[in-house]
Amino acid sequence: MRLWTMAVVGLGLSLSALTTANAQESDWEEKPYIIEDGKVDYGTYNGYRRYHNTCHVCHGPDALGSSFAPSLTESLKTMSYTDFLEVVTNGRQAKGAANQDSVMPSFAENSDVMLYIDHIYAYLKARADDAVGRGRPERLPPEEDQVFQEWKDSQ
Ligand code: HEC
Repeated sequence: MRLWTMAVVGLGLSLSALTTANAQESDWEEKPYIIEDGKVDYGTYNGYRRYHNTCHVCHGPDALGSSFAPSLTESLKTMSYTDFLEVVTNGRQAKGAANQDSVMPSFAENSDVMLYIDHIYAYLKARADDAVGRGRPERLPPEEDQVFQEWKDSQ
């Protein structure tokens, strides 16, 4: 009897913890960046750098698009995090596109991208929301940057 009660209490606790985690997760997907006085958190800043290492050659500087690939500043206005992750991981080829070179490569094997995919997402989402402008954003000082502190602790 006692064990049973404990199990129920335990289940109740983990369910509510799960609900909270889900709520936080969806908040993060909506707004994965912190920007104070125009200064961005570490994730958004790192995302800017990673984007301009790998993605800008096709998607254009500042994610504005090019003749090769769409503007991700536009795409991220409506695209979910899950869909974003899916495309970057598996790549995509436009079906029936006039331009047969229109291929989004798969980055599943590229750890420079996959390890920082949440940061790239944060940067692109900030661009889509017009929360960060063109060019290199200014970073929050590390001691005021919650994202940086969490990132450092996780390393
Ligand atoms: C070699 C060129 C190239 C590179 C490099 C590249 N992409 Fe793409 N990407 C494309 C093309 C072309 C498409 C459009 C594919 C289609 O029409 O289905 C695309 C589509 C996408 C889409 C879907 C957009 C939408 O509106 O559906 C996302 C998201 C995306 N790319 C993210 C990235 C990210 C993040 C990087 C860097 C890690 C990256 N891409 C690097 C060429 C590229």
